[in-house]
Amino acid sequence: MMKAAHDLSVKHRVPCEVSLEARMGCSLGACMGCVVRAFGADGEEQFLRVCLDGPIMDSRKVDWNTPPSESSGRTARARSQEQQSLVYDRKTG
Ligand code: FES
Repeated sequence: MMKAAHDLSVKHRVPCEVSLEARMGCSLGACMGCVVRAFGADGEEQFLRVCLDGPIMDSRKVDWNTPPSESSGRTARARSQEQQSLVYDRKTG
């Protein structure tokens, strides 16, 4: 939905701000769990924290082609740790 709004804003050359959502581990900018891939003014790759740099962001900064789960290394790591924890819980009852 937000990507569609962004695409419309680009098509009609009007500014667009979006309010992003992300799982937040700390909400302090420390855990990097809420990172989204973005682009700076000169097109350089950036990783913005939704908790500190957002949640409202200029839609032109956001990389709409990278799923949030791939932006955050922590998310993939957390998912793996959750799976390991579930296996451990099942073994230990
Ligand atoms: S929630 Fe931890 S860095 Fe954003």
